[in-house]
Amino acid sequence: MLHGIFYCIILNKPIGIFDSGVGGLTVASAIKRMLPNESFVYFGDTRHSPYGDKSEETIRQYSQRITKFLLEQDCKAIVIACNTASALAYQVLCDSHPHIPIINVVDPVVNHVGSKINNKVGIIATRATIKSDMYRKKLKRLNPKLHIATAATPLLVGVVEEGFMNTKVSAGAIEAYLGSKKFADVTTMILGCTHFPLLQREIERFFEGRAEVVDSPELVAHYLKMVLQKAGLSSTTSEAKYRFIVSEKTPSFARIAKMFFGEDIKLEEIVLR
Ligand code: DGL
Repeated sequence: MLHGIFYCIILNKPIGIFDSGVGGLTVASAIKRMLPNESFVYFGDTRHSPYGDKSEETIRQYSQRITKFLLEQDCKAIVIACNTASALAYQVLCDSHPHIPIINVVDPVVNHVGSKINNKVGIIATRATIKSDMYRKKLKRLNPKLHIATAATPLLVGVVEEGFMNTKVSAGAIEAYLGSKKFADVTTMILGCTHFPLLQREIERFFEGRAEVVDSPELVAHYLKMVLQKAGLSSTTSEAKYRFIVSEKTPSFARIAKMFFGEDIKLEEIVLR
């Protein structure tokens, strides 16, 4: 009996989710929808955002510090809801915490896309993610026949943060990046940045049905569900609790957090030392 109670306490611990800022809330939102019984603690490193132009070493240091904090909050699993940190810090985090399930946002997408035949894949992401070449390496390992075109599209991050979706600004930036010849015949488009799901419909319209634009947050949430089930860690409670923490709370982050998560949320500020 006592064993059962202790077991439930472990299962009902929260999941730790982190991102460089508030973009990872697109992933948190998909997790809330697909796993309504799971509690989570979200940490957005807004004080150090964006990660996309930072060095590998710095991104690893920040990711280590946040993971340590989330584990101190008693999290049972970690979701790296940031493509840049997934590309550069995933292995280091797994090596440092071998007994905790850690999932990144790259692998679920690679598994989904890599199994398709006759596929030409386009990838857009931050400079650091593109420079790491992580998507290409993982896709090629799975399917050496894939044709892959990539581009760093940092301006799209700013477009989303400033709320310029569905405007001439977003249309111009999408055209400038995706109108490039290298993307002309892609059949699958990977949005390799947690900000870009907010541009998904516009990018779909840009391709006029010629390319599938992959919904990464849904794939990540689905993958997390499988990992928790496999590890016997799925929650048993129907009263999920959510915490949203940022390392710097400004009115602008509060405004865009709502946009990314799709509903009002209360942000706490905690500075990690
Ligand atoms: N969250 C980051 C990502 O998914 C984008 C923003 C940043 O550069 O920090 O890569």
